[in-house]
Amino acid sequence: MTSEKIIADLVINGGVVVSPDAEYTASIAIKDGKILAIGEREAMPEAREIVDASGLHILPGAIDVHVHFRDPGYPQKEDFASGTAAAAFGGVTTVFDMPNTLPQIADAKALAEKHEIASAKAHVDYGLYAVLGEDSLANIDALIEGGIIGFKCYMGNTFGRIPSPTTGAMLELFELVAPTGKRISLHAETNSVMERREARLRAMGKTEPLDHLAARPAVVATEAVSRAAILAEWTGARIHVLHISSAAELRPLADAKARGVDITGETCPQYLLLSTEDYAAKRGVIRVNPPVREPENQEPIWQALVDGTIDMIATDHAPHSIEEKTREDIWTVDCGFPGVETQMPLMLTEAKRRGASLSDYVRWSAENPAKRWGLFPKKGALQVGSDADIAIVDTNRSWTVDDQALQSRAKITPWDGMEATALPVHTLVRGRFVMKDRTLQDDARGWGQSVHAIQEMPAAEPQNVDGTMAAVTRRSPIDD
Ligand code: NCD
Ligand code: ZN
Repeated sequence: MTSEKIIADLVINGGVVVSPDAEYTASIAIKDGKILAIGEREAMPEAREIVDASGLHILPGAIDVHVHFRDPGYPQKEDFASGTAAAAFGGVTTVFDMPNTLPQIADAKALAEKHEIASAKAHVDYGLYAVLGEDSLANIDALIEGGIIGFKCYMGNTFGRIPSPTTGAMLELFELVAPTGKRISLHAETNSVMERREARLRAMGKTEPLDHLAARPAVVATEAVSRAAILAEWTGARIHVLHISSAAELRPLADAKARGVDITGETCPQYLLLSTEDYAAKRGVIRVNPPVREPENQEPIWQALVDGTIDMIATDHAPHSIEEKTREDIWTVDCGFPGVETQMPLMLTEAKRRGASLSDYVRWSAENPAKRWGLFPKKGALQVGSDADIAIVDTNRSWTVDDQALQSRAKITPWDGMEATALPVHTLVRGRFVMKDRTLQDDARGWGQSVHAIQEMPAAEPQNVDGTMAAVTRRSPIDD
């Protein structure tokens, strides 16, 4: 009997593989988009292509669970091609795209159209979010059937002006989403608080960059996190706190985790690397929701990442045009800025500065996002059988961020001029180079796929079943 010889598509030799608990020199063989073997160079099968990664680190591609690629609706800011090209240059192999597009993704038709756009243009894999709003009750099943990674609930107003649902609607929505297993990501800023403050500031004639922060102090976020956690605890729904910006949010987050709520949290580079000290120089460019805050928030946020209270790093990549970011009156400046391309270099630089390991970074950027959204170990891991989603990184490369050189269509960020000490050199998605030697690969457009089909999210633990909507309606005297 002859056994058929296995020939790999690609073998990567000489790099240092970074896992969540170790770094080790090894070769990686890839076949049919998956990792076929990891081990000694001599143990690798024959391969069609061999890449030398000597002196480089091999990381699982980052999973950025919070990007805004603006497609359809705002081509001057970004589209799915430019946004995913930026991801590829940033070592990011999967993105979850937000639903505040035009139209917003709140029903099955809009979702189907966005799937067509994304599958035609994406250079990297993606999940699509759908809006969970005041009137979403009837759409939940159709949206899940149409293929989403999760829901997005806007508790406060931000770009796109999607109205925030009432607490009453949120309770019902959480109850209906809980058994589906889908995670609900929250823009956790309480609208009524910040709306009143902004109105007062504007009436006083205040228009400076720091007035944006005055309208949205940390209590705006903290109240929202606490309230959402109570609703999640009551219903058993899984929730995720987007863009944690303040030390004050950490207590309700940690408390809810201690109570057994399935709550996760992300922070973003802007809340670790920027502070109130940057407003004078960066002005409207730094305007983002929630706002960049006082420097004393940075250390507690970092410690929360280290101790696991905050699960992951995302970017809230939120591109706008130069004109939209440089208006004089702060209230007219669009909120947000790009981040998907610079996250890995800047956070690896920051991790090194603060004494965290590459393994720590891999836990925050890849393993935890994959686990919390039911994609692990197909995504977020360098293991035999995992998708070959890989960032090959030079962790000893000094360079300076230049907005004009970024892939994003929005050539204006607060990162311009920042020094980094790491740079992704190649990015592979399911075994294919999408960025090689800092060059976008021609055949990569359209290679990206939606990851919703591989997601496994078991139904959430039911909670307070005698206090649900169904219990209320069953108990009504009319039914007896
Ligand atoms: C985001 C955007 O522009 O879509 N803006 C922002 O300031 N973060 C929306 C959001 O995530 O709040
Ligand atoms: Zn947001």
